[in-house]
Amino acid sequence: MEVNDFERKKSAIIAKYNGWSSYDLNYNGGEFFMSSVETKEVTSFDGIFLKNILDAVANFTAGKKWEELEILDLGSYEGQVGIEFARQNAKRVVCIEGREGNVVKANFAKEVLNLKNLELFQDDVMNLSVGKYGSFDVVLCLGILYHLPVTDVFRFMKNVYETAKDIAIVDTHFAMADEMQVEHKGNIYHGRLFDETPDSHSPQSSLAGGDSFWLNRASLLNLIRDTGFDSLYVVPYPGKTWRGADDRITVVAVKHGGGGKKMVAPVFYRKENDRFIEKEPSLMVVHKKNMGRNWQKQKPDDFL
Ligand SMILES: C[S@@+](CC[C@H](N)C(=O)[O-])C[C@H]1O[C@@H](n2cnc3c(N)ncnc32)[C@H](O)[C@@H]1O
Repeated sequence: MEVNDFERKKSAIIAKYNGWSSYDLNYNGGEFFMSSVETKEVTSFDGIFLKNILDAVANFTAGKKWEELEILDLGSYEGQVGIEFARQNAKRVVCIEGREGNVVKANFAKEVLNLKNLELFQDDVMNLSVGKYGSFDVVLCLGILYHLPVTDVFRFMKNVYETAKDIAIVDTHFAMADEMQVEHKGNIYHGRLFDETPDSHSPQSSLAGGDSFWLNRASLLNLIRDTGFDSLYVVPYPGKTWRGADDRITVVAVKHGGGGKKMVAPVFYRKENDRFIEKEPSLMVVHKKNMGRNWQKQKPDDFL
């Protein structure tokens, strides 16, 4: 793309949808590159987070060549994670994102960076099915589960399970207060509602609007297990809380299928009656300043 063309198209997108928030696209003497708006580093997006996701995918798909991986990114925002996988030469990266402006921005980055292995769709993640999008070695559910209403959470996880060939990575806030219980297929899940109405004009908020359902941590792990995944691993963030929030977790959910090798030290291997207890002692340690969005509504005392 010619630089004049680049500047003109970029300005038109910013005029219509505002600027990018997870990375910036720049032109520098003959080369286009991505950089963080804040740090100006070439690596896009929250660096530690992105590195952890790349590492987790590399580790848990070690039996396959990177260039053979097909990756699905759900609720892909401006495409920052999918773009990085495409830049790293994954075979095929499909992003599904509900908001037009976000898809337009990701499409512009695709064009500028010449990423032929990146496909972008504007769609509701609730329309995900193998029939519509195919199946993928890796399904990324980063920052999307906690944006879904209670009516959608269980079907979403089922669709993720069916679409994933090897692993799904679920990165999400979880509830620190048990304000409600939901029964699904004979199991009880605990959590609370999170009102997204105040955020409804944010390009990162729930598409449905209204109340999203946040599972507590044990219920989240139970749900992923109940959906059918064979083992779970929690991605560590040594010395750091996730993006500054204590109420957030990144879980790798693995399908071992018939013959896959099991790894050491999972959170669990699948057993029929193994469930996480709902009130985990670890939730007693809560730093209010680190509780992420809308922490005032959380009730850590419930766990003491
Ligand atoms: C918090 S952002 C997460 C972005 C990115 N995956 C990450 O982890 O940083 C949530 C994204 O999901 C999108 N989204 C929310 N609900 C959606 C839905 N039902 N279908 C498709 N996209 C949705 C939002 O527009 C937003 O881009």
